[in-house]
Amino acid sequence: MSKVGRLSVSLEHRGAKLGDLFGIFFEDLNHAADGGLYGELVRNRSFEFDRIDNSSYHALTAWEKIERGGGQAQVSIQTEAPLNTKNPHYAVIEIVAEGDGVGLMNYGYNTGISLKQGEQYLFSMYAKREDSKSEAEAVSIAVENPDGVVLAEASIAVSGNEWTRYEAILTAKSTDHSGRLILLTKGTGSLALDHVSLFPKETFKQRSNGMRQDIASMLQELKPKFMRFPGGCLVHDGSLNADDRNSMYRWKNTIGPVHDRPARRSNWGYNQTLGLGYYEYFVLSEDIGAKPIPVLPAGYDPHHKRIVPIEELGPWIDDALDLIEFANGSIETTWGAKRAELGHPEPFGMEYIAIGNEEVGEPFFERYTYFHNAIKARYPEMKIINSSGPFPAGGEYERGWASAREHRSDYVDEHYYVSPEWMLANIHRYASFSADDPKVFLGEYASWGNTYYNALAEAAYMTGLQNNAHAVGLACYAPLLCNVDYVNWRPDLIWFNNHQVFGTPNYYVQQLFMHHQGDYLLEMKAEGLSQPITVNEAPITGMLALGANPDTAEFWDIQLENNITGEIIKLDYATAQGSETYRNLRELGKTDWDHYTISFKARRLEGEKGFELSFGDRGNGNRYLWEIGGWQNQDSALVSFVNGRGSCLTQSLFTVETDVVYQFSLEVTGRQLKAYINGELINAEEDKPLVIEPLYYTASYEEASGDIIVKAVNVQNQSLEIAFDVSDRSIGSVEVYELCGCQLEDENDFAAPTRVSPKQKLYHVEHNAAESFTYMIQPHSITVLRLKDEYEAIKKAYQN
Ligand code: AHR
Repeated sequence: MSKVGRLSVSLEHRGAKLGDLFGIFFEDLNHAADGGLYGELVRNRSFEFDRIDNSSYHALTAWEKIERGGGQAQVSIQTEAPLNTKNPHYAVIEIVAEGDGVGLMNYGYNTGISLKQGEQYLFSMYAKREDSKSEAEAVSIAVENPDGVVLAEASIAVSGNEWTRYEAILTAKSTDHSGRLILLTKGTGSLALDHVSLFPKETFKQRSNGMRQDIASMLQELKPKFMRFPGGCLVHDGSLNADDRNSMYRWKNTIGPVHDRPARRSNWGYNQTLGLGYYEYFVLSEDIGAKPIPVLPAGYDPHHKRIVPIEELGPWIDDALDLIEFANGSIETTWGAKRAELGHPEPFGMEYIAIGNEEVGEPFFERYTYFHNAIKARYPEMKIINSSGPFPAGGEYERGWASAREHRSDYVDEHYYVSPEWMLANIHRYASFSADDPKVFLGEYASWGNTYYNALAEAAYMTGLQNNAHAVGLACYAPLLCNVDYVNWRPDLIWFNNHQVFGTPNYYVQQLFMHHQGDYLLEMKAEGLSQPITVNEAPITGMLALGANPDTAEFWDIQLENNITGEIIKLDYATAQGSETYRNLRELGKTDWDHYTISFKARRLEGEKGFELSFGDRGNGNRYLWEIGGWQNQDSALVSFVNGRGSCLTQSLFTVETDVVYQFSLEVTGRQLKAYINGELINAEEDKPLVIEPLYYTASYEEASGDIIVKAVNVQNQSLEIAFDVSDRSIGSVEVYELCGCQLEDENDFAAPTRVSPKQKLYHVEHNAAESFTYMIQPHSITVLRLKDEYEAIKKAYQN
């Protein structure tokens, strides 16, 4: 049964500018770059894979020796006379017996190298020969499938004992996604190879060293206002020396000839070629129409507590200043000239720079000051983004905001990965934020999952972001890309293999909000809508369980106190049962009190982490957790789980020491939580009840089209007949983009890549030039209505 309501919008009531509100965030995790967006088809092209990247890697990962028709060879990895010293490994094939040829085979990514019939591929390599008896020996290049069918081939004569670059074009005879690149040689002596590359000729926008067409097009089709890059944790997880394999992400290592770029360990457990480097990031941003937002490390690695001494911060700050010059400087400047030399004399028009990612701890904020002051002194117009840690509240979050207020940072980067229910409960999070404070850059957010339900919750949440544009300046979902065979993190916005790509329901929500963002917020008034429904304000009752990870701790003096009656129950860890559901936890018993304090003493006997108190456990993954010494033994955090999906409610820094006795207590007052360590309050937060509003909506005005854009999200399973009133506008027609008719658990996949995706239709208003019309909002739907101005439409018709 449908319900009825009225929404009124007026051009008179303009709100905040929406600016660059909705964009994307690219980080090379899940093989998003190498084996993903970056067009290179050869895996480990420079023989630089190493145990540092991943314990299973070695210099011949993805390569295999081949000996055909009686051929015999020894393959070794050498470093004595490299092509360059930053990239020192190369392969040497000693020809013992030539037979029908000896050499190497590369497996590419996923099922292999994907070729499309009739398309051309650019092969290149550096090679040299030693002790060859003939002037030049041919190296045959082929892509074969596992059955030995030749999909494409070429031949290159290689001579001389100096590194020389060789190229060939291969044309695919048929389409196959399981190709192996095969390099075979004959003759005598040895053949040395480095930087063996195969690139599709057709890259996105025909760029050399460019991006995979299909994936990059998916990014372009979002129409993002900005692109944040290159991370994420990968920016600041690393050593302090820029020349280390293991270094933090230093942009100067990522530009210039690709074969000269050093390989890098990524904290996501693989090797980054850096072939997709800063120049390519800027060009890609431009190609997809997004403003670049680079993120730089501040000489502080919170993962390993590596800290550059303040007196050695100079080169790090220079990196930031030089980057701005690289992006925006005239070609008369050192770094502007470098940009021109790389092929882009025009400035990239960079407006934003982020210092740090998810930073926690005073050392970052101490260093931030130096970056901020140096950047503002030289580039006062540059908008600087500060950081507020990985969670939506707590000590580190507040520290970030305090730093941003103190320095007048332009933006504060907030991150959170949460349950869909957290999003619905926190739609109005930013309503109380002041327009006079730095603006929020919601640099990473997602609900846990890629179902239609997740997408619906995110869409509802995004109406809240847009409606609070006085406080929220920029927002991007994370992570963006995932290769299905190399998953580090899920959910992700776009999934792909070596030849297919699909957008998740979440992708289509982002697309709707980006395509139909508008330039100004318009106020909307609602009448007749039913009252919000509180779905879950269940008290925090249920099983209590305590544990250590690993189970190497003592707990004693455990008691549960009823804060209303004063009743006290003593609990015993030694006799408690191990939890069937949660490793390391022992169940202490259930409570149905809703105002209580649980307190205990604890001591870690050995190990590196801390303790866990699980409470309010009602089964099926609905519970709370107090993590003490969580994540690398750095946090005290309160986490709420709904159906197994966690949302960190608040976090502060806390480290558990071995052999120290701690007194912990947790106070539960309805849905208000307070955690104390040795009598001091460390975490306090309310777990907001899940409230479902009858409709989530937002309206904006788009200057270029003159359209009023209404976005409405209905998370309930009933339709809503809405009368739209536009008091100062004659509506001729309404363009509708609608995502509906799906099951909440629906997902997209390679077989049905657009199962969940919006449909467009034109809705004619009954009376021409009407100021109001009605529209039936579908159950479980996301609807964008573009209200067209009747007179504008007539004017345009005449002009044409
Ligand atoms: O988006 C995945 C990761 O989540 C990012 O690298 C990091 O910033 C966050 O913890």
